[in-house]
Amino acid sequence: MNAVAEVPIPRRTLAPPKEGEDGLFTQSWYPICLAEEVGSGEVKGFDFLGGRIIVMRDADGRPSVLSAYCPHMGADLCTGEMVDGAVRCPFHFWRYGPDGKCVATGSGDPVPPTAKLFAFPTAEKYGCIFAFNGTEPLFELPDFPKPPEGLVWKVGEWNIRMPVDPWVICCNTPDMQHIRVVHGIELDGEDPHKEVRWTPHSMTYNLKGAMRDGTRLDYEIGIHGTTIYVQHGELGGRWFGFVAPMGLPQPGVTRLFFAVAVEDDPSDPEGTKAFLDAVYDLEINVATEDLPIVEHARFKPGTLTKSDRTLARFFQYLREYPRANPAGEFIN
Ligand code: FES
Ligand SMILES: [Fe+2]
Repeated sequence: MNAVAEVPIPRRTLAPPKEGEDGLFTQSWYPICLAEEVGSGEVKGFDFLGGRIIVMRDADGRPSVLSAYCPHMGADLCTGEMVDGAVRCPFHFWRYGPDGKCVATGSGDPVPPTAKLFAFPTAEKYGCIFAFNGTEPLFELPDFPKPPEGLVWKVGEWNIRMPVDPWVICCNTPDMQHIRVVHGIELDGEDPHKEVRWTPHSMTYNLKGAMRDGTRLDYEIGIHGTTIYVQHGELGGRWFGFVAPMGLPQPGVTRLFFAVAVEDDPSDPEGTKAFLDAVYDLEINVATEDLPIVEHARFKPGTLTKSDRTLARFFQYLREYPRANPAGEFIN
């Protein structure tokens, strides 16, 4: 009797859309740069969503994120200058205010009504400047459950750009198998699938257990939008907060920022700094553990098992997540 070839069961194709697919991007807060990169009265240019934007600050330090190309003849405003709270185009000196509207032409000609830049909703938080991909934010950037004035921060950008969309990195958070085997966290009790809290723009849950070296951890972790990982709680009995905002200069490329906060202990500045540095290094190590996987995977939701329940729900969250590109024709 001839052997009958076994036909493999096809993989389920539940992949969320890629960023930029059909010209659309997830409507989330995206970090554009470190807050310290743009001083008061300065303007700088950055890549965002496959196009160009500027970040400018007025004399009081208020930041604005605007499309970079001048509607007059397309100069890139990143080489412009701040004059009286407006960015002045290097080409013919038209000036644009923080709301993106042209306030004056260089020649004195009347300002055409269409002379406008796209003004992104802008926020400064966790030592970064953020733009929201939309005309109105769908959610606010979250706070830690600690008074902000009692916290000290260490903030930086990783010097490695990851060759995937931010949501691919976010998929680590609901991935219980990955948390256990790669990051070596032994959870107390059952996987917390049932305790995950879902909203249309976030997922959070509590993670309790021990690290490889036995240090106890008790965290709340979660994803906000498709670009903000937030973690806070106790490590070895001491509280810290961590945010990893993920920027999207172009489809399939993530810029990863790290912001760690610990409670200031004025009686022990060295101990405070040592803990801040230790947590920062720990988070860099976690990202370093992920890097070779992320660099080589052809990421797709395939054959999932019962440990992947929360991950499967997260794919659904991503598939249903609002997408738009209102700035598209301004930034390209
Ligand atoms: S291109 Fe900007 S003022 Fe002419
Ligand atoms: Fe990971």
